Amino acid sequence: MKIHFIGGGNMASALIGGLLGKGFAAADIRVVEPLPQQRQTLVEKFGVICQAQVDAATPDADVLVLAVKPQQMRLALAPLAGRLTCPVVLSIAAGLTLATLSAWLSGYRRIVRAMPNTPALIGAGMSGLAALPEVTRDEHRMVEAVLSAAGETLWVEDEGQMDAITAISGSGPAYFFLFIEALETAAQTLGLAPDIARKLALNTGFGATALAKSSSESPAVLRARVTSKDGATAAALAVMAETGVAAGIIAGARAACARSAELARQSGAQD
Ligand SMILES: NC(=O)c1ccc[n+]([C@@H]2O[C@H](COP(=O)([O-])OP(=O)(O)OC[C@H]3O[C@@H](n4cnc5c(N)ncnc54)[C@H](OP(=O)(O)O)[C@@H]3O)[C@@H](O)[C@H]2O)c1
Repeated sequence: MKIHFIGGGNMASALIGGLLGKGFAAADIRVVEPLPQQRQTLVEKFGVICQAQVDAATPDADVLVLAVKPQQMRLALAPLAGRLTCPVVLSIAAGLTLATLSAWLSGYRRIVRAMPNTPALIGAGMSGLAALPEVTRDEHRMVEAVLSAAGETLWVEDEGQMDAITAISGSGPAYFFLFIEALETAAQTLGLAPDIARKLALNTGFGATALAKSSSESPAVLRARVTSKDGATAAALAVMAETGVAAGIIAGARAACARSAELARQSGAQD
């Protein structure tokens, strides 16, 4: 499968590293990247083919991955508009809708839009995916083969749900980082040294998430199991309920969803 990337930055590098790790051949991966230094890094690190501009081979890739910043996308697509013959295009740009991408590609319709998240950079990402109806089952599988190199994938039928996905898994790493920061601060206010505070907070977050993921029981059941009546955990959770920790997370995610929809409307208005 020939996989071509437009944009060879952080996300493209994460995907390329994952693809090579899964046995894809470097000779089948090409990257269009304007920065000479970044091209050199990609060649040295991965042995993939890099070029400064789109050429005759680009429109014929099996999967064409759009991995430039949303604000760079329109310009990046201009040389491809009306020329694409590839089976499917995968965009990982936040907030750019399928309709906007299709318009910028002169009506090309076999497009999949993904919302990855930053843990993709270490192969532990969670990507939400939505496709135009013209994308076939086989093309769904091709796209999934590319994105699963960076972690897990999940399809939604309704592209409108991408704003909710952005609010949960897209922005979600920041919520977890906030929780880790707060736990570190708490540890320090309880007299623990900063390095100890960080180690405790990070490993507790990692271990609790791994346990919840591997367990057949819900997080609510697991939480109840570590909360003995009148114990220390119960004292903490009572204060967290009073101070509205869960309510704050839910309200925050709702605000992220509304903002994501607003940003998508603004980028569509560039048409
Ligand atoms: N990083 C994340 O965790 C994350 C998470 C979710 C979604 N995304 C999405 O993933 C996409 C890529 O993000 P990133 O972090 O990988 O960005 P990045 O590191 O800035 O990579 C984008 C690369 O594309 C290059 N580029 C710019 N214009 C181009 C053109 N016309 N043709 C070809 N290449 C061009 C840029 O070069 P210059 O530096 O010269 O501009 C840059 O090297 C974004 O749309 C973002 O919304 C990223």
